Amino acid sequence: MSGVLDSKHIVVGVSGSIAAYKAAEIVSRLVQAGAHVDVAMTKAAVEFITPLTFRALTGRDPYVDVYRHTVAGEAHIELARRADLMLIAPATASTLARLAHGLADDFVSLAALATAAPVLVAPAMDSQMWDNAATQANKTTLEHRGVQFLGPVSGHLASGRSGAGRLMEPEAIVDLVRARLGKEHGNMSGLKVVVTAGGTREEIDPVRFLSNHSSGKQGYAIAEAARDRGAEVTLITTAGLATPGGVRAVKVASALEMLEAVRGAAKTADTVIMAAAVADYRPSSPADRKLKKADMGDQLTVELIENPDISKEVTGDFVKVVFAAETNDLIQNATKKLQAKGAALIVANDVSATDAGFGVDDNRVTILDAKGGREDLPLMTKYEVAGRILDRVVDLLASC
Ligand code: PMT
Repeated sequence: MSGVLDSKHIVVGVSGSIAAYKAAEIVSRLVQAGAHVDVAMTKAAVEFITPLTFRALTGRDPYVDVYRHTVAGEAHIELARRADLMLIAPATASTLARLAHGLADDFVSLAALATAAPVLVAPAMDSQMWDNAATQANKTTLEHRGVQFLGPVSGHLASGRSGAGRLMEPEAIVDLVRARLGKEHGNMSGLKVVVTAGGTREEIDPVRFLSNHSSGKQGYAIAEAARDRGAEVTLITTAGLATPGGVRAVKVASALEMLEAVRGAAKTADTVIMAAAVADYRPSSPADRKLKKADMGDQLTVELIENPDISKEVTGDFVKVVFAAETNDLIQNATKKLQAKGAALIVANDVSATDAGFGVDDNRVTILDAKGGREDLPLMTKYEVAGRILDRVVDLLASC
């Protein structure tokens, strides 16, 4: 997954916490996504993790000792000037205090003070230090100045206690960096995007349900790609996948629950993209207790009634994108659905393929539009498919 981080200059400030080792993973993920990463370290950070680790990960010399750095001239000004974003992870109580008071006695605080780029901080400390009035006041001060806090989260702390103060997981931090860069530079900044994902579950009884093979991966990829372009994303999902950072997830199970959630979210949406595999039918009277085999005999008949068609029921002033999952006559069937559902675009998906469609990371789709246009896409990642769909949505919104 690249895109928003490609060729961006990110300064990662590392301060002295036991969580400093996680900064290596954060830096590695940023570099793998195409970012140019410069690491600035406090002296305390060097006690926890060596500059060599970051040099190996970034191919660049970390900024450590203000008075002995080998770059001629004002290294911190140069570092701060070329940053598209500065992330301080982990940010200790002491580093937050230095930032709040404008102190500039190490490369981390110097760069934060000198940069015009967005500054994001991911605190890590014991819960009592985090709850301390001084830390909370520093947080308020920094937030007023536009510094974005990523966590901390609650969980196990190095002190052995449990509580708020744990560094957010590296993957979530990188997701929020993507979201912030998207807001600064993305072509969907300020747009509201609603995405549905996963197969609905229609209850037969409290332990059994009817569903389908949708994993939710295509819907999640759309949510991530829209977030990376700066959109405010609501993901209405039945899937158990981890919620992407910077995305609002609404968990639902059945088609009826999904309908209610989409109806609510669509009111303010610029686009609604329906990648979910919604069951066309549900059991007409689900049992409120587990059905016993002994009571059912050797045949069970479950009566089904039709579910509402979410893609038809939810209308409004937004660009509607639907999917068509087909095993035969892909284009004919998708064209009929495009018209019947009043959509601007339909993404036709041959789900009989083994390398695309349900469950896998790749997809091969054809995008049809309401004006008769057709775009056949080769096999690509679901994130790349998402990008191609969003390109079309952006064009449609621009022409509205
Ligand atoms: O989740 P993955 O494992 O990544 O797989 C991705 C996918 C194959 C599920 C996805 O790419 C896809 O094709 N989703 C649509 C699946 C589907 O239900 O297609 P359909 O042809 O039955 O429905 C057409 C459209 O109407 C869909 O946008 C669907 O969300 C919508 N629909 C269908 C029935 C219903 N009652 N209400 C609806 O809104």
